[in-house]
Amino acid sequence: MTNKQFDVVVVGGGPGGYIAAIRAAQLGFSAACIDEWKNKAGGPAPGGTCTNVGCIPSKALLQSSENYEHASKHFADHGINVTGLSLDVAKMLARKDQVVKQNNDGILYLFKKNKVAFFHGRGSFGGKTDAGYEIKVGDETLTAKHVIVATGSNARALPGTPFDEQTVLSNDGALSVANVPKKLGLIGSGVIGLEMGSVWRRLGAEVTVLEALPTFLGAVDEQIAKEAHKAFTKQGLKIELGVKVGEIKTGKSGVSVAYTNAKGEAQKLDVDKLIVSIGRVPNTVGLNADAVGLKLDERGAIVVDDECRTNLPNVWAVGDVVRGPMLAHKAEEEGVAVAERIAGQHGHVNFNTIPWVIYTSPEIAWVGQTEQQLKAANVKYKAGTFPFMANGRARALGDTTGMVKFLAHAETDEILGVHIVGPMASELISEAVVAMEFRASSEDIARICHAHPSLSEATKEAALAVDKRALNF
Ligand code: FAD
Ligand code: NAI
Repeated sequence: MTNKQFDVVVVGGGPGGYIAAIRAAQLGFSAACIDEWKNKAGGPAPGGTCTNVGCIPSKALLQSSENYEHASKHFADHGINVTGLSLDVAKMLARKDQVVKQNNDGILYLFKKNKVAFFHGRGSFGGKTDAGYEIKVGDETLTAKHVIVATGSNARALPGTPFDEQTVLSNDGALSVANVPKKLGLIGSGVIGLEMGSVWRRLGAEVTVLEALPTFLGAVDEQIAKEAHKAFTKQGLKIELGVKVGEIKTGKSGVSVAYTNAKGEAQKLDVDKLIVSIGRVPNTVGLNADAVGLKLDERGAIVVDDECRTNLPNVWAVGDVVRGPMLAHKAEEEGVAVAERIAGQHGHVNFNTIPWVIYTSPEIAWVGQTEQQLKAANVKYKAGTFPFMANGRARALGDTTGMVKFLAHAETDEILGVHIVGPMASELISEAVVAMEFRASSEDIARICHAHPSLSEATKEAALAVDKRALNF
């Protein structure tokens, strides 16, 4: 039993936590990070949901499955004929596991490099003494002047249908299906539903997505969501909107989902596997928040102010376990900002310029406000769009689906939102984020020289289109 004193102890080693610990160490604090995630051998696997069962493995499988789809459906357009194409799912999953491991190892290396003490195990509040907060991990007790809680989130299950990760899958099981299911069902057409639905459809599954809301991707700009819906439907993804999911029966051979469709008709969906992707819940299990009186809200999220301060002095919380979008880069920015605030600096997170990306094909990415939000708020705006169909690089790539859309203030021309559906939207959105951080006008982007031929020319052209002077369309 040892007792170790630290300036900052971070509970949770996902993107919010490990980044906070590194930044705290950079600022000269003695810092520790506690994380309980285990790899298959029981060893440490820092990086949280994002690295182990989220951002990283999903992108690895999205890439592998897209390569397969290209080889099977699109190489021939380039005059490349493939015969004897076959799929080795075990190898694909092993590659994904290797990518995850590289990221786990990278974080352990960064801890060493920055002199962050790492503790593998569950961290829980023990109490408070004059020296600070006591955090128990295994049979050790750490004492911390400041605690940053970054314990993340877990998948939400449908009431009465727990995840068994064999037939009813959360994101965890959805990333490790050993054989391509013939029929795959998904509940929820949000970000995970579309990304995981795309992976398994590309690999050959017949995929049906059941969504409760009557509109597709309600948070996305309507014009962009419509274009994406068209593309996904054409690819063969069956998306049923406005459904009410009823009884779910699981058996040895699969799952049967009773539901009523948008017309109110009783329906049944029989599938081999079911992925439930209906959102995530903040995770404070095992934290022993009660020991110190840490306040949670009715959703189980830790209550924080705009600067991630909890109700307790010197206890902070960041990432998925607090309000705001459940995104890795949001968690990271909060982690950095909190470490800087502890150091007396002015850490800052601009919630208006957090980008969103859905890594389907076409990709969907956006920053700022949607056209429907501007209308609802009675903001006068001008819109400009440019289709990838008219972009030379997109034609050369053979990927001309979608568009870039700019929304700018009608009087000041300040950019209020940028929305993209199309190739490499995930990379293109960065220019819009920078522009909005600098409070640029659409005219600013329209006057910047963009490389030719590049997809980013579509961004420039959409900015020109705000003033009705697109050159190539
Ligand atoms: P987490 O990453 O959940 O990390 C929390 C860590 O704390 C975990 O390791 C957990 O084991 C540990 N922990 C919890 N309690 C304790 C305790 N008491 N003691 C010790 N350790 C504890 N976001 C994106 O921005 N881009 C994407 O492409 C993306 N893709 C995703 C794909 C999927 C399938 C999923 C599920 C999510 C995806 N996300 C993505 C969301 C992203 O993963 C989360 O927003 C992000 O991981 C949140 O980071 P966090 O640090 O708050 O929590
Ligand atoms: P989500 O919130 O994106 O989507 C959930 C969907 O399920 C919604 O459309 C909702 O209307 C629907 N739904 C809820 N209850 C339902 C029910 N009973 N029946 C049918 N439909 C129902 O949540 P998801 O996809 O689980 O992802 C969780 C979070 O993880 C995301 O919100 C995002 O923050 C993060 N994530 C981010 C990714 C990225 O940045 N590329 C990728 C994957 C996840």
